[in-house]
Amino acid sequence: MSSLLINALKGENQDRPPVWLMRQAGRYLPEYREFRKKYSLRELFFTPDLAAKVTKMPVDQFGVDAAILFSDITVVAEGLGLRLDFNEGPQISPNVSPECIGHFGFIPEKLDPIIETIRILKQDLKVPLIGFCGGPFTVASYLVGDLEKTKQWMREDPLTFGKLIDHITAISCTYLQMQVAAGVDAVQVFDSWANVLTKEQHKIFCLNPLEVLIQAAQVPSIFLCAESGSYIEKIPCAVSLDWTISLQDARKRTRQPLQGNLNPDFLFEPLDQIEKKTRELIQSMHRDPSFILNLGHGVKPNTPVNAVRCFVDVVKEFCIEGQSPA
Ligand code: CP3
Repeated sequence: MSSLLINALKGENQDRPPVWLMRQAGRYLPEYREFRKKYSLRELFFTPDLAAKVTKMPVDQFGVDAAILFSDITVVAEGLGLRLDFNEGPQISPNVSPECIGHFGFIPEKLDPIIETIRILKQDLKVPLIGFCGGPFTVASYLVGDLEKTKQWMREDPLTFGKLIDHITAISCTYLQMQVAAGVDAVQVFDSWANVLTKEQHKIFCLNPLEVLIQAAQVPSIFLCAESGSYIEKIPCAVSLDWTISLQDARKRTRQPLQGNLNPDFLFEPLDQIEKKTRELIQSMHRDPSFILNLGHGVKPNTPVNAVRCFVDVVKEFCIEGQSPA
């Protein structure tokens, strides 16, 4: 599929930058809130027709340049035979502890509804579909149930913790390959909590598994971790940046595609400010052929729908000198 997003991920975009938003299908959309009155999150994530409809909401409403599968990084827990529920955030039961190591299996069929969602979407979606998985360290922290407990396990028993990371990496490879076989055009690896790791831990438990995941996926890949600017040179694929680093600084340090990096709070500003800042950001990247416009983190729950529409419209109307709008 030729598209602005895939062109940018290949470093070949000669047009305006593509735009999509993390958590673009979510709580700020009235249609999504209507769905949530009728269905639980479990039902939405594991019912292909419903998950496909939610995925398409921001594509139909705003004309974003990519869809991201409506799911969560924690669904792989179900593949491990664990139970996933949502309260304030994802809750997995039972939680995983060092005693579990060596007793895990993986039942890929449990993830079939998500794969079916991809197949449904690919029948008529006109923009690329982004699949995803969690980074093994971040997934581990949800399986263990608590970030502090996870860090303690990693410090006190790095050997069994390494086995947990290896297992999550292996099943995530399979899961990404299932998504790619069903038709996703690109993947994003969300390792949100990997910024708490020391340099050495980061190499072993984040960057090494990332290499394995992107090798397995064999489609353009994007990596997200909070503050990923601090080790940007080491990331072997496109980098999703937050606002703790400027895109210009990032560009000086890597040739990989860059995605980002607006603070989601900027969508609460008046529309004229949104317009101005968006234009400035695009201009500041000149004609970078591998830049993807996005936020540095997900859209916040009470974000005005008009602000999202304005943001996307400004990008789509942005005219590269000598060309008409795409
Ligand atoms: O970007 C998208 O629109 C795709 C869908 C998506 C969800 N979660 C849906 C979701 C993606 C890509 C994620 C990734 C995810 N999930 C991450 C990595 C990105 C990040 O936020 O750092 C993490 C850490 C999770 C785990 C998670 N899921 C948390 C901490 C929470 C609770 C807080 C929150 O942000 O909502 C969730 C819940 C969650 N993820 C929901 C959905 C649709 C349910 C809440 C809702 O209705 O929006």
